Amino acid sequence: MKTITLKSPFDMHLHLRDNDMLKLVAPLTSDTFTGAIIMPNLVPPVDTKEAVTAYKNRIMDAVSDKTFNPMMTLFFKPYTKEFLEDVRDEITALKLYPAGITTNSEGGVESIDTIALAPTLNAMIDLDIPLCIHGETNGFVMDREAEFMSVYEELAIAFPKLKIIMEHITTKDAVEMVQKYDNLYATITLQHLLITLDDVAGGMLQPHLFCKPIAKRYEDRDALLNIALSGHPKIMFGSDSAPHPKHAKEACGCAAGVFTSPIALQVLVELFEKNNCLDNLQKFISDNACKIYNMKPSSKDVTLEKKDFIVPKAYEAYGETVVPMYAGETITWSIKS
Ligand code: DOR
Ligand code: ZN
Repeated sequence: MKTITLKSPFDMHLHLRDNDMLKLVAPLTSDTFTGAIIMPNLVPPVDTKEAVTAYKNRIMDAVSDKTFNPMMTLFFKPYTKEFLEDVRDEITALKLYPAGITTNSEGGVESIDTIALAPTLNAMIDLDIPLCIHGETNGFVMDREAEFMSVYEELAIAFPKLKIIMEHITTKDAVEMVQKYDNLYATITLQHLLITLDDVAGGMLQPHLFCKPIAKRYEDRDALLNIALSGHPKIMFGSDSAPHPKHAKEACGCAAGVFTSPIALQVLVELFEKNNCLDNLQKFISDNACKIYNMKPSSKDVTLEKKDFIVPKAYEAYGETVVPMYAGETITWSIKS
C-alpha cells in the first residue's frame, strides 16, 4: 500500500474553543499534528498573561498527545512594552481582528491606524513577536479581503521589521500581496484550496462550508492552490478549523467556521497527490512554518496510507456535536500512525 510520512506537521491557525468543545476537538488535532497556533477569540478574549497560561493548561489537559505544542496567541490590543515583555515567554504571536469582523471579535481594533498602533507594534518588533492579522474590511462580503490589501501594504511599509502573517488568505490579490513585501507571510486553509462560493451557496446552502473570509471565485482558488502546491517559502498551512456546535451551524443565522481538523492531513495528501506535487507538501505543512516562526521541528512523524476513510457524519462527546467538512463522504487517504 502506498504511504507517505509527514514530519512534524503544524497547523498554523487553529480554533480550539473551551470547556466541552475543547475536550472534544483538541484530541482531533493533537492525534495528527505536532503543534498549532491557537487563536485567542474566546469569550472573553485571551488578553492577559493569566488567561494565556490558564488556557494553555486547559488545552494540555484536553489533548491526547502530551507532547503537543500549543503555541499561544494574545488578542491584539494596544499593549505596553512592559506588558509584552512580561508575557513574551508564554506566547508565539499576537492576533489582530478588526472589531466585529468575525466570531467573538467585538473587542478588536476599530481602525488600523499606524500612528496609534506604533508603540505596540514597535514593542513587538523589539521582542520579536509576529503579528497575525484577520485581513478583512466590513465592505461587501466578496471584496472584504481585497479591500484590506492597502492596510497590509501600509503596515508592511511602515514596520519593515515586523513579521506580519496574512491569515487564511482567500484571493488572488492576497497571493500577489504576500510576495510583494519581505515581511509579509500567509496561511492558507484546507477549504480555500478546495471550494469556491459556488460550493457554499451556488446550490442548496451548505452551512458547514460557510466561513470567514468566505470562499471566493475560481481564479482566487486557483491562485491559492498554485502557490500552496509550489511549496512557496512564505506560505504555511493554517486550517482555521473553527468548530461550532451542530445546532449553531444548521440554524437560521449560521455561525462562520469550517471544522477540518480530523481530515486535514488526509485531504491535503489527496490534493497534493492529485496535482503531482506531493514532494512540496512537507514544506507547506511544516518546513516553511519552522523557518518563518523560528521553530524547531519535533520528532513527531505522521504516516498516511492510501486507503479509503469514511469521514464520520459528526464527532460527538461531552454533550457536544460537531460536523466535519466532507461528513459522510469517502476520502482516499487515511492516517496510519
Ligand atoms: O469562519 C471563521 N470562524 N472565521 C474566523 O475568522 C473565526 C472563526 C471562528 O472563530 O469561528
Ligand atoms: Zn481563525
